[in-house]
Amino acid sequence: MFHSKIAGVGHYVPEMVVTNEELTKHMETSDAWIQERTGIKERRFFKEGVDTVSGMAANAAKIALQRAGLEARDIDMIVFATLSPDYSFPGSGVLLQRILDLPGIPALDIRQQCAGFIYALSVADQFIKSGTYKTILVVGSEIQSNIMELSNRGRNMSVIFGDGAGAVLLQQTTEHNKGILSTHIHADGTFAEELMLEHPGSKRKERFNKEMAEKGELLPVMNGQLVFKHAVQRFPEVIKEALDANSLNTSDIDLLIPHQANLRIAEYIQKSLKLRDDQVFNNIQKYGNTTAASIPLALSEAFEEGRIKEGDLVCMAAFGSGFVWGSALVRW
Ligand code: ACO
Repeated sequence: MFHSKIAGVGHYVPEMVVTNEELTKHMETSDAWIQERTGIKERRFFKEGVDTVSGMAANAAKIALQRAGLEARDIDMIVFATLSPDYSFPGSGVLLQRILDLPGIPALDIRQQCAGFIYALSVADQFIKSGTYKTILVVGSEIQSNIMELSNRGRNMSVIFGDGAGAVLLQQTTEHNKGILSTHIHADGTFAEELMLEHPGSKRKERFNKEMAEKGELLPVMNGQLVFKHAVQRFPEVIKEALDANSLNTSDIDLLIPHQANLRIAEYIQKSLKLRDDQVFNNIQKYGNTTAASIPLALSEAFEEGRIKEGDLVCMAAFGSGFVWGSALVRW
């Protein structure tokens, strides 16, 4: 029986730090409002000409490769989670494949927003379990600062999101009770329009025009309170689903890495699952919500900080636009 183990993790964030105070120069908001509602203190914004979604993913991947003691040529497949690809098409997976100089290997883009990394991990895990591939690079990378508007009109979203990337190398193993124990993924399209960026989509004859820009229709929209309500229900549900599937309990979790949506959501999950502070890892305070990048970015930082040891039970869970949600349980 084959399983996937996490052989290496890495992350990369752009250099430019944007504090809450900096945002107050562009919109009516305050450090207190942002911290109270989201826990965020600062985030990173990309620099045009320096950072790209595929380039940031490559930077994160190189660190993961080094930590795994692997070379790029060991990679059999790329699974790339992002809602902000370099181009509308092709996806960023092929661009990452080009940067890493891996001609011929398959590259798959996953578009599941905040649950993108969990979906990507799940897809990669199936390819490894089936024996198709031995080593798969799974990345989440986002540039979101340029789809938000730093204005009063865009402030409900622009204070939350940031840019960054994280990468994980999955490798085939036959070791018992090691690596990914299970993944669980779900969707409910009923709420597709509650958190979305409509344009430039294919529904209208003109994908975008000046009028849409003036009306603010080229900005993402979010029904924040509805997202919050669903998130705090789905997160605990899908974490319990993973634990039940493996006959484990919340007390067995050594580290929960929730998608960094909002610190208040993470605190709610922690409380509802009765987890101690040392069982949960958050870094949204420094990076904001980096969507598909948030889990591998947090995983990599948790690893660097020595919060994950051999044999630990690590649970990752996410919820986001779609709505889509999922979890993964890993024995490190
Ligand atoms: N600064 C100051 N005031 C603001 C800001 C801002 N950045 N944004 C909105 N406001 C104002 C609103 O205009 C409103 O003013 P009004 O009362 O005069 O109309 C007031 O603050 C309250 O707005 P609400 O939207 O009701 O604020 P709420 O308390 O719900 O907080 C938030 C908004 C933080 C988005 C909250 O709903 C939330 O956390 N939702 C969860 C969504 C989330 O976390 N999304 C992350 C992405 S999705 C994901 O990753 C799962």
